Amino acid sequence: MNNFEFYNPTKILFGKGQIGNLAHNIPAGSKVLITYGGGSAKRTGLLDSVKEKLQGYTVGEFGGIEPNPTYETLMQAVKMVREEHYDYLLAVGGGSVIDGTKFIAAAACYTKGDPWEIVAKRAKIEKAIPFAVILTLPATGSEMNDGAVITYKEKKTKLPFGSELVFPQFSILDPVYTYTLPPRQISNGVVDAFIHVMEQYMTYPAGGTLQDRFAESLLLTLIEEGPKALANPQDYDVRANLMLAATMALNGLIRIGVPQDWSTHMIGHEMTALYGLDHAKTLAIVLPSLLEVMQNEKKEKLLQYAQRIWHADEKLSEAEKIAFAINSTRAFFEKMQVRTYMKDYDLPKEAIGEIINNLKAHNMVALGESKKITPEVVQEILNRAYQK
Ligand code: NZQ
Ligand code: ZN
Repeated sequence: MNNFEFYNPTKILFGKGQIGNLAHNIPAGSKVLITYGGGSAKRTGLLDSVKEKLQGYTVGEFGGIEPNPTYETLMQAVKMVREEHYDYLLAVGGGSVIDGTKFIAAAACYTKGDPWEIVAKRAKIEKAIPFAVILTLPATGSEMNDGAVITYKEKKTKLPFGSELVFPQFSILDPVYTYTLPPRQISNGVVDAFIHVMEQYMTYPAGGTLQDRFAESLLLTLIEEGPKALANPQDYDVRANLMLAATMALNGLIRIGVPQDWSTHMIGHEMTALYGLDHAKTLAIVLPSLLEVMQNEKKEKLLQYAQRIWHADEKLSEAEKIAFAINSTRAFFEKMQVRTYMKDYDLPKEAIGEIINNLKAHNMVALGESKKITPEVVQEILNRAYQK
């Protein structure tokens, strides 16, 4: 097992009615800016109940943070925070609103230049406005981690940044808020969380037997509960398990002391930046083909995955077990109603070259746990991912 540091200061308030604890977790006297997305929080009445709970505070609102939050929109909020001197932010929404709020929190305090430098140049964040989260979509884990992904629309660029200063101070995780999710977002959330686990698990054995078991428990939970959420959207325990699984999938715990491979995400981000596909859909396209192409590198873990997660028949050969595991993974995404080929989304064949050019422009030319996923390997992966 590799050495590691683990730090996660985010307090989790989990369960029905936890909004009742909102106010006393925010310092008295704060001037709070509530951030939200395209309107679901308004429609569901959540925004009103949040405001009601914050009656003792000075409160403002910034709505309109879009899926795959953009620098262009977020800079409007940064201006508001600076001019009106907000000193606490409250994100009400899914990963996009939370990521956007992380950027606002850091950018509002960044005075050395254009805050895009925080993302593009990984400029050091020295200060950020404290913030909290009310989660409405289990998927990204952003509610309990220190990362965010921001899109610069004009540049067709989508890139991650991170800092310990952008961990949420606390996050309210009430599974009831997820009842209003459309099936598309339930599906996206399950697939995204599943692939977060895979990026921290599907590498090579590193002696992290406990971490492997953590990861496997999350994969099994997502496989079991995901389809139930589509079939029976008002089942509290199903929603609670999915919410907890998505948070645990990317709060730093399962990656301690083990290698990681975030190449599916990096390739997927370029696909979203260029073609606007939902984040989870890009991952469902890339992962199965990436596993096929990288199967020799990942052989031992693929065999473990085939046995422990998909219960591959012991009589199969190693190659057959691996093929069975990859096909089962693809079938799970399709069962969750997420299609797994570029052609399914009407992407042109030229998309492959454009994605590779963008990866090169962002210096992502040696991806994967062993840095072997070069532009040539990405070409092979995307050729397979194009159509059946
Ligand atoms: O904008 P509104 O109107 O609120 O609607 C949203 C949005 O259209 C809707 N929604 C959210 N909660 C709802 C709801 N609709 C009804 N009822 C509810 N309770 O869902 C739509 C999608 O929301 P979004 O926040 O974009 O989805 P998600 O949580 O999947 O976030 C995706 C973003 O997170 C980034 C992705 O790249 C993408 O930009 N990621 C962030 C990560 C991180 N910070 O650690 C890691 C991930 O890998 C990911 O890259
Ligand atoms: Zn993701």
